[in-house]
Amino acid sequence: MSNRLAATPNDLRAFWMPFTANRQFKASPRMFVAAEGMHFTTADNRQVLDGTAGLWCVNAGHCRPKITEAIREQAGELDYAPAFQMGHPKAFELANRLVDLSPEGMDHVFYTNSGSESVDTALKIALAYHRARGDGARFRLIGRERGYHGVNFGGISVGGIVANRKLFGTLLTGVDHLPHTHLPGKNAFTRGEPEHGADLADELERICTLHDPSTVAAVIVEPVAGSTGVLIPPKGYLQRLRAICDKHGILLIFDEVITGYGRLGAPFAAQFFDVKPDIITTAKGLTNGVIPMGAVFVKNEIHDTFMDGPEHLIEFFHGYTYSGNPMACATALGTLDTYRDDGLFERAADMAPYWEDALHSLKDAKHVIDIRNLGLVGAIELEPIAGAPTKRAFSAFVRAYEKGCLIRTTGDIIALSPPLIVEKTHIDELMDCIRTVLDEVE
Ligand SMILES: Cc1ncc(COP(=O)(O)O)c(C=O)c1O
Repeated sequence: MSNRLAATPNDLRAFWMPFTANRQFKASPRMFVAAEGMHFTTADNRQVLDGTAGLWCVNAGHCRPKITEAIREQAGELDYAPAFQMGHPKAFELANRLVDLSPEGMDHVFYTNSGSESVDTALKIALAYHRARGDGARFRLIGRERGYHGVNFGGISVGGIVANRKLFGTLLTGVDHLPHTHLPGKNAFTRGEPEHGADLADELERICTLHDPSTVAAVIVEPVAGSTGVLIPPKGYLQRLRAICDKHGILLIFDEVITGYGRLGAPFAAQFFDVKPDIITTAKGLTNGVIPMGAVFVKNEIHDTFMDGPEHLIEFFHGYTYSGNPMACATALGTLDTYRDDGLFERAADMAPYWEDALHSLKDAKHVIDIRNLGLVGAIELEPIAGAPTKRAFSAFVRAYEKGCLIRTTGDIIALSPPLIVEKTHIDELMDCIRTVLDEVE
């Protein structure tokens, strides 16, 4: 046994694990000790196929050489530079590389350390922008039911997942929510974008009428809702949201923490759907998940509005000790090089039809009540066990892991998002595993 395997800790009490059934885990731990390409290695030296790109973040696959090398070099050269009132070249180089990928006219980037921080940063930029324009009565933020925007107070306020909100008091005030777009009665087993539901965007008009549009600062949605179980936007829905926001002078924020960096086969969902938001939040795939980092893209007009007043004054009172940290920037540059040199966004687009066919081949598998897909994202929704929601999907997750596949479940939905280097044989293996597991679980 190698040292790395022997080093597995045998006392698991101290670490309070995030979004985890701690007691179940500690009774029956699932430990990864290494990873390469499409696979993890477990502590008992098994290979597990990564069907989820870690947590929707390892888009280039694991332990990619350009990323590893970039980190190695950076660590020996410049470990840290203060983020406030000081700079280092890679932060600027990265920002320029990022805006080359972003939709036209979004030429400015604000760095964060996570998706949650990107979301809270975007909400603050939106509020402060209106204030800077002399339109400070715009204080309302509109999210969506079943939206996931991370776990900070701004994100859970505009988010729409009940379990993430109910324990945390009053949250932000002045927030309202659009209805979610999940219409299984009409859209079940749709391949790609569903036909029904674009009119749900019109609910924004109703919300605007209720509060008066002049009080609404921003609308935030995930173009494809990921963490809530992969809800693909109905055809025309995002375009309608954009039109209503334009009509009322409301900013549209796309939370692209999952869809950013190639997941749909384009750099961002904004380009995939051809709908340009005013602000885009990202994280995860920015550094291939390797070092925590997020980036918020803003339209030029928003950025330029802040660049006013005496030049010695700080324009925006916001930022993090680790905004644009040299290690994170080096990692992101290595990641962007890998995406470019390996043509991974194009690869995702090329592989998407095979992925779609493979997913939908599970239509007749046991317990399956819906299948959804777009780009290299997919969801298989299971009939819940009466009186025990989430139990069937959780059992499927544990069994799939034991059989050598990492899947992710949310509620009774299996959500899949393989690294963009996935091969057809991996997709076949994943679907075979899921079919077998669904046959076995109660
Ligand atoms: C759309 C979206 N926004 C925000 C987040 C939060 O990101 P993080 O966990 O890096 O804070 C996530 C994480 O899954 C996400 O999917």
